[in-house]
Amino acid sequence: ATTKLWGGRFTGKVDPLMTIYNESIHYDKRMHTADILGSSAYAKALQQCGIITPHELSEILRGLALIETEWVSGVFKIADDGTDEDIHTANERRLGELIGREIAGKLHTGRSRNDQVATDMRIWLRSTLDEIDVALVDLVKAHVGRAEAEMDALMPGYTHLQRAQPIRWSHWVMSQASYFASDLERLRQVRKRINVCPLGCGALAGNPFGVDREFLAKELGFEGVIGNSMVGVADRDFVVETMMWGSLLMGHISRWAEDLIIYSTQEFGFIKLADAYSTGSSLMPQKKNPDSLELLRGKSGRVFGQMAGFMYTLKGLPSTYNKDLQEDKEPLFDCTRTLLDSIHIATGVLSTLSINATKMRSALTMDMLATDLADYLVRKGVPFRETHHVSGAAVSMAEDKGLKGIDELGLERLKGLSGEFEEDVKHVFDFETSVERRSAIGGTARSCVVRQIEEVKKIIVG
Ligand code: ARG
Repeated sequence: ATTKLWGGRFTGKVDPLMTIYNESIHYDKRMHTADILGSSAYAKALQQCGIITPHELSEILRGLALIETEWVSGVFKIADDGTDEDIHTANERRLGELIGREIAGKLHTGRSRNDQVATDMRIWLRSTLDEIDVALVDLVKAHVGRAEAEMDALMPGYTHLQRAQPIRWSHWVMSQASYFASDLERLRQVRKRINVCPLGCGALAGNPFGVDREFLAKELGFEGVIGNSMVGVADRDFVVETMMWGSLLMGHISRWAEDLIIYSTQEFGFIKLADAYSTGSSLMPQKKNPDSLELLRGKSGRVFGQMAGFMYTLKGLPSTYNKDLQEDKEPLFDCTRTLLDSIHIATGVLSTLSINATKMRSALTMDMLATDLADYLVRKGVPFRETHHVSGAAVSMAEDKGLKGIDELGLERLKGLSGEFEEDVKHVFDFETSVERRSAIGGTARSCVVRQIEEVKKIIVG
């Protein structure tokens, strides 16, 4: 028999490449805390049903605590003969060394690495998502801070990337904050679904020693137990859902980054990135490149890919545990790392960039008030479809006459287009007025942006 955990029925040698191909310890060791927590709870459950004595329990708990300190202080030694194939195997081997195999060998009674790994993954992921939650709250707060401080800055709002209507810069900022706040709400919903306990499902059919699964769930901070053992060991929907969630978030970050890249060009000049988030060119001395934003945009592809890749892995698997499921870890670990780093970088970029309100304002042109001119006539009782034509005619007349904008046409020319124009039409040609008119909920008027800020603040506290 080989010295492997499952070596009992084996006599032949394993191909050394197969040993390497099979192992997951070099990446799943990060779940050491979750694994120790799960084992400690399981040991308590075993003692409750009389499989181990109180003395054996205290020995197991002592050994597990020691192992955890070894991991934390970095002295845990992974066996170099390839027998520590994963974190579960390594911890069990070490427990035997520390407290003796006689007692340590009882810990795995009725348990399988199948329910063990599913438990570890859920524990690890929920605390990782809690870190991401904190980071995302900071990102939203950075938006709120800017929106509050820079309420006065006006800029063009775009559709089709063409100048459309004047908006407040803070309205753009809060539009982005709103996506991120929704991401936060979704994250908290996903976390709820992750936080259910598979421990006590055994290999697939359930636990034959009557372990108290409600106790295990409570002990491990889960909100409930998974009600079918075949699901408990095999369900990786929570991994997929996390990566789908992350893909959506990265999509938002990517669009956000793209807007800021455009705003930071010399041609726009609305914003300037801090040196901390820019890089230079190895050839062109004058260059300052928005690498941070480009990486944020680029890394979205990586996260989408990990999500899609793991979906392919799951597709076509037969029910319950198959080793394919070990492939859940690397994409999930890389994805959550990428998400956390990206959120931090985005927060850094946003809170250190400077805006050029003068440049923003000078990008506003009178033709962007053509809708307001049409709306002026609407208020005088003219149907909008008609006023749209009149205003369009005013725009082209100003163009034909080589004027800078529709505000230079003068009352007489305007009267020629519609008898409803009067002296007060001059008030239309003001960007601030235009912005403040959009005061229905969700608009760009100051009161509405303030309202959005309030809404988002409520979401942050949860
Ligand atoms: N390292 C394995 C994984 O990540 C643990 C479960 C192994 N279970 C088994 N039946 N081979 O999936």
